Amino acid sequence: MKLNIAVLAGDGIGPEVTREATTILRAVAEFGGHDFVFTPALIGGVAITGTGGPLPQATLDIALASDAVVLGAVGDNKFNALSPDKRPEAGLLQIRQALGGFANLRPSVAYSALAGNSPLRPEVTAGADILFVRELLGGLYFGAPRWWNRDENEAINTMRYTKNEIVRVARIAFELATRRKKKVTSVDKANVLEVSQLWRATVTEIAAEYPEVTLEHQLVDSMAMHLMNTPRSFDVVLTENLFGDILSDESGVITGSLGMLPSATIGGTVNLYEPVHGSAPDIAGTGKANPLGAILTAAMVLRHSAGLEADAAAIEAAVAQVLATGARTADIARGGDANQQLVSTQEMGKLVHQ
Ligand code: NAI
Ligand code: MG
Repeated sequence: MKLNIAVLAGDGIGPEVTREATTILRAVAEFGGHDFVFTPALIGGVAITGTGGPLPQATLDIALASDAVVLGAVGDNKFNALSPDKRPEAGLLQIRQALGGFANLRPSVAYSALAGNSPLRPEVTAGADILFVRELLGGLYFGAPRWWNRDENEAINTMRYTKNEIVRVARIAFELATRRKKKVTSVDKANVLEVSQLWRATVTEIAAEYPEVTLEHQLVDSMAMHLMNTPRSFDVVLTENLFGDILSDESGVITGSLGMLPSATIGGTVNLYEPVHGSAPDIAGTGKANPLGAILTAAMVLRHSAGLEADAAAIEAAVAQVLATGARTADIARGGDANQQLVSTQEMGKLVHQ
């Protein structure tokens, strides 16, 4: 198959981890006889330096003409004095908006070799494999009216959802659940919020289209606790924007390191794939960056933009296997573990390719 991939490596460790991700994709293309075309483009601080703005029109054109956009990370301390709309991070917000994806997929997988890296007990986290499906374009972050009346000590945000916005993200969650453990946990606050009642009723309606999938509803407050107590009991977790933002960060606790987390934003014009972490200026250029979040993001490209499920699963299995051998970048290393070997970004990438 042919796949045009825009590669927006960005700043800091972005290019370092993206290189490992594209190397894996090239290997998959070569083995499978696929034609993957990679087109690099500027975003973030490197785009400001090169073109004057964080998201040049040329990058947008390349992204919109591609089948998938792979992004590293943006952000560079040297632009800290600029206003928010001129900083590298503005490029990220702009491209997310331009691509229009409304479903943000964030897998939280507790690789058993890393169980000891979580503050939770290994017997609680081992085997946990949660896929958050977070609605990304609605709710409090976008609802109108929103204002801050600076004189009258009042501010307003609006949690607004239309039925259609809930339907489309719910369908994605149920579709994904049919390919996993066939369980959807829908999170809301239906005991208090009107929006949550619409959310719950709509998700229940969509569930009827997927009789093989079990649906459960959880209130967001107790869900925050259940996630830490029984992470293994969840499969797909479907949430609105704010609840998903909070819960998916919380679930990072079960995985061991920020450097392990991939994400994909789907449903728009072109899917956007990025590791969850930022540009990590504190370790950029040192070879310490963990490329596994970016490599697992590459697996998501294969799964969600290429239909190459077996190849995606093979990459994930390779990551688990490499971790089981004791290979560790600094962020996932633990003092006192005699079996581990410290490896660089490139060495970790190479171990996964093999
Ligand atoms: P960060 O995610 O870059 O780093 C937080 C901490 O985690 C740092 O100590 C870093 O060294 C470590 N870390 C992150 N990724 C790692 C990896 N792959 N391997 C090993 N260690 C890793 O977040 P921070 O420090 O708050 O922000 C740094 C810059 O990144 C800022 O300019 C920020 O705006 C930007 N940022 C960009 C994001 C993106 O492009 N999607 C997301 C978050 C932050
Ligand atoms: Mg967040």
